[in-house]
Amino acid sequence: MADNYLGKKMEEHMARSAQGHKPRTQQSLGRLLRRNRSHRAYDASFVVRDDQLRRMVAAAVLAPSAMNRQPLRYRLVRGEEAAKLLPLIRLGGGLPELKLPPAGCEPNAFIVCCSATEPDKYLYMDLGIAAQSMLLQAVEMGLNGICIGAFDHAALRETLNLDMEPLLVIAVGRGVEHIELTEIAASESRAYYRREGVHYVPKVRLDELILKNE
Ligand SMILES: Cc1cc2nc3c(=O)[nH]c(=O)nc-3n(C[C@H](O)[C@H](O)[C@H](O)COP(=O)(O)O)c2cc1C
Repeated sequence: MADNYLGKKMEEHMARSAQGHKPRTQQSLGRLLRRNRSHRAYDASFVVRDDQLRRMVAAAVLAPSAMNRQPLRYRLVRGEEAAKLLPLIRLGGGLPELKLPPAGCEPNAFIVCCSATEPDKYLYMDLGIAAQSMLLQAVEMGLNGICIGAFDHAALRETLNLDMEPLLVIAVGRGVEHIELTEIAASESRAYYRREGVHYVPKVRLDELILKNE
């Protein structure tokens, strides 16, 4: 029985290698960055586990922090508590005609990033680096997520009984959206849009992001 199991696993592994699939641990940073898209619809049948959220926060532990103050704290939210957060967040403000997430595609897990200190400009720098580190860790685990800045602060504080300021909510789950990046000039619209079921995210081309030397 055990031999059969191992043999089967090895066969699956060989088949995957033959098709050019890399094991998750060998995914290049470039691939993780490209796959790290903001998802606004999730597979509701996939329940995010506590250990997956903890692993994401472990990535934040490794992030740099101004003066090494490490002012951020993280509240893990799953299950019934997650359902209570749904009415307090706003997804897809750039597509007001759509109801996002669509019914039945709600995320069932969140990480709420909070501040243990008075805010200053470095707090938000720390926050951005920590958030991206956590999202990349999620993608490496085969999950997806999205940063959510649009939420009802007071209601969220009350719902989660937080004694510190929530700065950013990160939804986590198995994303079900088809998302494509498009390259644009800096002068073009950066608004994301949807066409025939595909979510398009315009990104300003590299050459226009780099300032000229002269
Ligand atoms: C700090 C921050 C706050 C954001 N807040 C929201 C939000 O409240 N609602 C939302 O739908 N998307 C939010 N987003 C996701 C952005 O809309 C998304 O990053 C952008 O459209 C680019 O798509 P991409 O992440 O797939 O590259 C936020 C992103 C960041 C970095």
